Amino acid sequence: MSNTVKVAVTGAGGQIGYSLVFRIASGELFGPDTKVVLSLLEIPQAVKALEGLAMELQDCAFETLAGIEINSDAQAGFDGVNWAILVGAKPRGPGMERKDLISENGPIFTGQGKALQRGAADMRCVVVGNPCNTNALIAAKNAGDVPFNRFSAMTMLDENRARYQLAAKAGVDISQVRNMTIWGNHSATQYPDFFNATIGGKKATDVITDHEWLQGEFITTVQKRGAAIISARGKSSAASAANAALDHVKNFTRPTEDGNWFSAAVPSDGSYGVEEGLIFSFPLRTKEDGSYEIVQGLAHNDFAQEKLAKTQEELKQEREVVKDLL
Ligand code: NAD
Ligand code: LMR
Repeated sequence: MSNTVKVAVTGAGGQIGYSLVFRIASGELFGPDTKVVLSLLEIPQAVKALEGLAMELQDCAFETLAGIEINSDAQAGFDGVNWAILVGAKPRGPGMERKDLISENGPIFTGQGKALQRGAADMRCVVVGNPCNTNALIAAKNAGDVPFNRFSAMTMLDENRARYQLAAKAGVDISQVRNMTIWGNHSATQYPDFFNATIGGKKATDVITDHEWLQGEFITTVQKRGAAIISARGKSSAASAANAALDHVKNFTRPTEDGNWFSAAVPSDGSYGVEEGLIFSFPLRTKEDGSYEIVQGLAHNDFAQEKLAKTQEELKQEREVVKDLL
């Protein structure tokens, strides 16, 4: 074993946490040669449940799991972490939009942002708890000197959903669908960009000739998939969200395959006319040195420009609501 990575998971006692922590501990995330110390965080009332979770983790006898810490205090829980996966937040119920959670969930991320200053020098943070883009902005703005580009929010679940829909419509294996960008907010205004997606190396719009479906049902299905799952299950997505969180961390920790990219919400540097500093989902590539870049030069027609403007506007409105927390 060559190195050890410390991973904090907040809300580890919740439904996403239960689907997530075993896969992190198993070695799936960082490989068989990296040991993992799990730092599990919960509110005080749920710490007892974490003790049970820790017993189950021990009982898996994962050879990559080097330790388990349990905390309800973020300062202690984030001490020395390399990755912080911030899941702990209330989920929405039927009939709600994710931004309706902002007043209740936003304040969680001020204290956690401050505590993230105790992370390792290379600390990176992904926010899953909704509304995740704006919660990531709150955490980043409270994290003192921690570089802004260490913070991201998860739109990987949306990308995976979009890839599935395109593959099913085209009747191809999902591995054929590449270059699928989610632009903007993890919300019903997100723009799943089929124009720049590829299927089997060809433009998706050449493979799927039903453009009415692409511009209509495809986009709304992806935008509203979270709500559809809540309506069907009575609870929000959990295993697919945990799976996407793993994909997100893998995408940031491994060089991206040639010609492809992945989606995540990161601080805008002004690319594509998006206001600098908004946490906006872009197409990204991870370089050999471990840093990431926003893929440049993708074309946007009037249809796409309108979608980008709408999702950007929503993020500005969310930022306005939480301005006292920034
Ligand atoms: P859940 O209610 O099952 O679990 C959330 C857990 O967080 C609870 O155990 C709760 O006690 C804990 N918690 C609350 N405040 C905390 C705090 N300050 N510190 C530590 N823990 C805290 O919810 P869930 O289904 O696991 O979903 C968690 C969040 O993830 C929700 O906000 C949900 O909307 C969001 N989500 C995001 C995506 C995405 O794609 N970005 C996907 C699915 C769910
Ligand atoms: C999702 O996309 O499944 C999550 O953000 C949960 C939700 O509220 O939809």
